[in-house]
Amino acid sequence: MHESHIDSTQPKPELYRQLVGELSALIAGEADVIANLANASALLYHSLPELNWAGFYLLKHGELVVGPFQGKPACVRIAIGKGVCGTAAARRETVLVRDVHEFPGHIACDAASNSEIVVPMIRGGELIGVLDLDSPKVARFDEEDREGLEKFVAALLAA
Ligand code: SME
Repeated sequence: MHESHIDSTQPKPELYRQLVGELSALIAGEADVIANLANASALLYHSLPELNWAGFYLLKHGELVVGPFQGKPACVRIAIGKGVCGTAAARRETVLVRDVHEFPGHIACDAASNSEIVVPMIRGGELIGVLDLDSPKVARFDEEDREGLEKFVAALLAA
């Protein structure tokens, strides 16, 4: 069993540096995509404070389909361009939403969510899916989270 020793109260840059290190250790030598995404979502959910959902949507036949995650059951399919996830996928850039109630077209999977960040996963120029984190706290995510999570996704895609 993997034991995490991450102090979630430390400054975000250091927290994400440690998370990327833990991720690399977790996925080293393992090529199974579902296994690695499942462990990545568990690592994020249990290491980052104030989350109610952390997981992946994967691009399948032109739409996003829910993949490994932690949190309440979620919407299964999201069209490209729809919601925060579909917007990040269409723009191929991270979308950081301070208050989901102010984001036109936000898809409410869990009524507890108030803020959200979605990072696209792009490998070899191709969109594979997105990483989605939700929080019950308004303005939970900032530029340091964006930077840290983009590095986290880059490490995941490099595996
Ligand atoms: N809120 C997302 C949908 C996915 S759930 O948050 C897990 C969206 O607007 O795309």
